[in-house]
Amino acid sequence: MAKKPRIVVIGAGMAGLTAANKLYTSTGSKDMFELFVVEGGDRIGGRINTSEFCGDRIEMGATWIHGIGGSPVHQIAEKINALESDQPWECMDGFCDEPTTVAEGGFELNASIVDPISTLFKNLMEFAQRNVNEESIVADATWCSRNGGNESVGAFLRRGLDAYWDSRKDFEELGSYGEWSRKLLEESVFAMLENTQRTYTSTGDLFDLDFEAESEYRMFPGEEITISQGYLSIIKYLSSALPPGVVQLDRKVDRIEWQPQDHHCRRHQRQVDDLRPVKIHFFDGSFMSADHVIVTVSLGVLKAGTCKDSGMLFSPPLPSYKTDAISRLGYGVVNKLFLQLSRNGNKKPEFPSLQMVFHRSESQLRHEKIPWWMRRTASLSPIYSNSSVLLSWFAGKEALELETLSDEEIINVVSTMVSSLLAKPHKEMKSENGSNGSCNGTGSEVRFVKVLKTKWGSDPLFLGSYSYVAVGSTGADFDTMAEPLPNSPTGVHHPLQILFAGEATHRTHYSTTHGAYFSGLREANRLLQHYHRVEA
Ligand SMILES: Cc1cc2nc3c(=O)[nH]c(=O)nc-3n(C[C@H](O)[C@H](O)[C@H](O)COP(=O)(O)OP(=O)(O)OC[C@H]3O[C@@H](n4cnc5c(N)ncnc54)[C@H](O)[C@@H]3O)c2cc1C
Ligand SMILES: *[C@@H]1O[C@H](CO)[C@@H](O)[C@H](O)[C@H]1NC(C)=O
Ligand SMILES: *[C@@H]1O[C@H](CO)[C@@H](O)[C@H](O)[C@H]1NC(C)=O
Ligand SMILES: *[C@@H]1O[C@H](CO)[C@@H](O)[C@H](O)[C@H]1NC(C)=O
Ligand SMILES: *[C@@H]1O[C@H](CO)[C@@H](O)[C@H](O)[C@H]1NC(C)=O
Ligand SMILES: *[C@@H]1O[C@H](CO)[C@@H](O)[C@H](O)[C@H]1NC(C)=O
Ligand SMILES: *[C@@H]1O[C@H](CO)[C@@H](O)[C@H](O)[C@H]1NC(C)=O
Ligand SMILES: *[C@@H]1O[C@H](CO)[C@@H](O)[C@H](O)[C@H]1NC(C)=O
Repeated sequence: MAKKPRIVVIGAGMAGLTAANKLYTSTGSKDMFELFVVEGGDRIGGRINTSEFCGDRIEMGATWIHGIGGSPVHQIAEKINALESDQPWECMDGFCDEPTTVAEGGFELNASIVDPISTLFKNLMEFAQRNVNEESIVADATWCSRNGGNESVGAFLRRGLDAYWDSRKDFEELGSYGEWSRKLLEESVFAMLENTQRTYTSTGDLFDLDFEAESEYRMFPGEEITISQGYLSIIKYLSSALPPGVVQLDRKVDRIEWQPQDHHCRRHQRQVDDLRPVKIHFFDGSFMSADHVIVTVSLGVLKAGTCKDSGMLFSPPLPSYKTDAISRLGYGVVNKLFLQLSRNGNKKPEFPSLQMVFHRSESQLRHEKIPWWMRRTASLSPIYSNSSVLLSWFAGKEALELETLSDEEIINVVSTMVSSLLAKPHKEMKSENGSNGSCNGTGSEVRFVKVLKTKWGSDPLFLGSYSYVAVGSTGADFDTMAEPLPNSPTGVHHPLQILFAGEATHRTHYSTTHGAYFSGLREANRLLQHYHRVEA
């Protein structure tokens, strides 16, 4: 009797579990394959990790459904009633959308200062993602024309800000604000919005985000929401269809041995009883043979695994067109920091949803106690109104630095920062000509008791957070990532030995959970089609 084809999925994250779910549940394929999902960690979910902090449900990784219109993740969430819960959850009440903007020095910024810059920034980003035409940004859009390739989103944004300033040279009349000039204030608000964008794109520096390639990124329409029962509910749903034994935890893959040439030429090298073309070696010394492997490890793990210094994940190494795409595409670090506020007696803590505007670190600092790694963080806000848990997002080298800090150090710095922003009877930001408004800040009473931070950058199973289009990469690199191996056009005895899924293999929805989902479906369908098991 012929052996069933054995398919091994590497990684039990969104892409891997979607692929396994599809392969297993497709009509007629239940007994068609021998299926395994091998996961290096001790849990399923990968970059989805719903957890708990101080009694509140939180997300360590994926947090948002980025647009509910057409999102397969949203469809599953609805189907399994994951969008309803009695318990409060992250950003349940839209509270995060109505922030108070404060500038270093203790000034609250009036909407008349923040809104025009926010609108400008939003228009520029929409243009960068090609959702609007040039005319709607500024009347004179000549500054938009670029000089050749390798333009970055960062450079584009700054040229947009300069053009905005050129269009209105009235700063002097607008007066100054405490230690801030109007122009410096506007620039710092713009920088705050750039910092938010760094966390959205996982780009340490927007000057490393490719302007041309960024235009291919697609958002779903509709609201962006969080999942009240936790993102992990989607993962549990996908894996619940699989029988016991399919998903194997704590099985970290060390090396994937494959046969780039026709298998027959190399048969003598193989064990006699084992004609499957791929051999997966695990860190504990065990191995498993397979007909097909779906690799879903992160782009960061692939970068490390194809770099000669850190040990090769593939043997023989991947062809150079593959490794070139892997090295061109960007993969950044984004971390979340959760802080618990101490309760003041029995009172529920009331902390505003803060947007934070800092002086440029190179400018003369009045508040040097706030270190560099804190100064590019755009917000600090309760995860829902009245929650005692506050959340900040970090990107780039600041996010990596955060991973190395002690809880005590983080509490000290955040406390100092909150005092600087809120402690004074906090003045409303008005022109010096106006009267100084005053209200009571909450800053002086704020105490933090507990800290939880994510460490996606140093975790060897992820080595970062999600992918982006680095300057010099193109959308085509994602397609190259997705190509199966071996790629010889004809005469391959064992085709589709290595298939690639994961967020970094999706050309327009990379960096997201739904991108990972689509990629898993794509590779499952590739195999189903190969075995003529695709339904209409
Ligand atoms: C902080 C953060 C916030 C995010 N926010 C959002 C958001 O709001 N919305 C959104 O849509 N997306 C968000 N994302 C991105 C989203 O989480 C990912 O795009 C998606 O979960 C990736 O799924 P994947 O299956 O491609 O990869 P992964 O989830 O990384 O799955 C790969 C699996 O492979 C395993 N693995 C790695 N190496 C090995 C090995 N050698 N052997 C065996 N197993 C191995 C890993 O442990 C992992 O489980 C966020 C990510 C992070 C980190
Ligand atoms: C996932 O969450 C658990 C707690 O629920 C935590 O112990 C673990 O460190 C988290 N892992 C990652 C990679 O965030
Ligand atoms: C902002 O300040 C201006 C002038 O000081 C004032 O007219 C306006 O009402 C303020 N707006 C808000 C939202 O407070
Ligand atoms: C873009 O950058 C790459 C690598 O730095 C370089 O090889 C290429 O020539 C550049 N292209 C343009 C059009 O400047
Ligand atoms: C937050 O607390 C205040 C009073 O403490 C209350 O009026 C309000 O309804 C609470 N909001 C939510 C969303 O629970
Ligand atoms: C602020 O005061 C200066 C002089 O004190 C004046 O020239 C300027 O017009 C005033 N600005 C506004 C916006 O009132
Ligand atoms: C506002 O406060 C500043 C500094 O605190 C002070 O110099 C200034 O005179 C005040 N202006 C008014 C109108 O009270
Ligand atoms: C500020 O606090 C003091 C005492 O705590 C109180 O008397 C005053 O009314 C408060 N002012 C405002 C504007 O809330």
